[in-house]
Amino acid sequence: MHMFDSSKTLYINEDRFRKDFEILAKIGSTEDGGVHRPALSKSHLEARAWYRDLILESELEFRCDGAGNRSAFLACGPKNAPTLLLGSHLDSVPYGGRFDGPLGVLAALETLRVVKENGISLPVNLEAIDFTDEEGSLIGLTGSYALAGKLTKEDLDNPRGGRQALLEGMKRAGLDDASFLSARRIPKSLAGYLELHIEQGPRLLKKPTQIGIVTTIVGICSYHLRFIGRANHAGTTPMLDRLDASQGASSFILQVRQTILEKFPECVANVGNIHLSPGAFNIVPERADIALEFRSAEPQTFSILEKTLIGKARAAAKQFRLGLESDLLSKHSPTPLSSQAQNAIEQAADALGLNHIHLVSGAGHDAQALADLCPAGMIFVPSQLGISHSPKEFTHWEDCVNGANVLVGATLRMANTIITE
Ligand code: HGY
Ligand code: MN
Ligand code: MN
Repeated sequence: MHMFDSSKTLYINEDRFRKDFEILAKIGSTEDGGVHRPALSKSHLEARAWYRDLILESELEFRCDGAGNRSAFLACGPKNAPTLLLGSHLDSVPYGGRFDGPLGVLAALETLRVVKENGISLPVNLEAIDFTDEEGSLIGLTGSYALAGKLTKEDLDNPRGGRQALLEGMKRAGLDDASFLSARRIPKSLAGYLELHIEQGPRLLKKPTQIGIVTTIVGICSYHLRFIGRANHAGTTPMLDRLDASQGASSFILQVRQTILEKFPECVANVGNIHLSPGAFNIVPERADIALEFRSAEPQTFSILEKTLIGKARAAAKQFRLGLESDLLSKHSPTPLSSQAQNAIEQAADALGLNHIHLVSGAGHDAQALADLCPAGMIFVPSQLGISHSPKEFTHWEDCVNGANVLVGATLRMANTIITE
């Protein structure tokens, strides 16, 4: 083993990286080029089993913690050295794309293989991790929050995907509440975190840029709102006498968009699901359940936006003489990323002759869970058409390779700055 000479540039094994990516994309694939691998579903667990085999085939140590986070470990540092985590997630949104998550996990594994093959020793160990349930089909940033010691019993008791779905997923994966809560790592064992990810938006396309260096990750807040009216006969009940939950919910949903456009142009909000019950043609809806999510990169704006939207929901309920129940499911704060990590990424991109910009991430990421415990950084590569969370998600292979090579370079630079500082 020899210390890495930072004037040298190491490259991934492109054929191996592409082969792994294409095999993985077939697990849980949907015919239109996407993947359907919700956290702890059968297809997700199949992808995880494949990743474990790949780790063993690469002659790296396989590790798995109580939150189901699964990783390759390379002991390239001195005894008791802290670990520089690299990674992302293999779970997907329902019927999503094949790049969101897997690109980062496989680039992380490729980085460990390159360091191992070149016999490089570093001041830190390296680990290529696949975090559980990043996408929030169950809770959201679940594995990384568990590793950071931030996952709570309340999160497990009241998950945004429903307790039943979580229990079923845990059963399939051989996990339980206690094991999730046991996954905490002591912060000083973490030397840092780096993640390669697709941008999932249009900015890198605007003035074609090869690499995005993330400065901040948006804050994300999820609410379950329930408008409560009164079921009644849809034929005999006069229109003005109805306590129609669908009216309050629809009025609120339209106001969400208007409020963002008029008062919070830097933010976004989404109502991803609405469910009317009892749900028959001839019954005035008694309940309207909606899934509200909103995001802001700025802490103060984030909290004003929350107050404003919940106030609008209350006003819409009152307007249609409805009850309202609001249940805060999760709130991840806007998260600045480490300048040390940003510098390492920038130097790696420059060494490869790749142009780059600094930008805010409009998507949430596992780095949010770790950024206050250790230096965390993210590398973005362009998403064609700016599309993601869709089977149409696509990133040119050349951009994937660029991103993975930047991850290798940034890892080596971060590793050497962390201890020498
Ligand atoms: O929802 C998000 O922002 C991320 O893709 N999990
Ligand atoms: Mn992702
Ligand atoms: Mn995603």
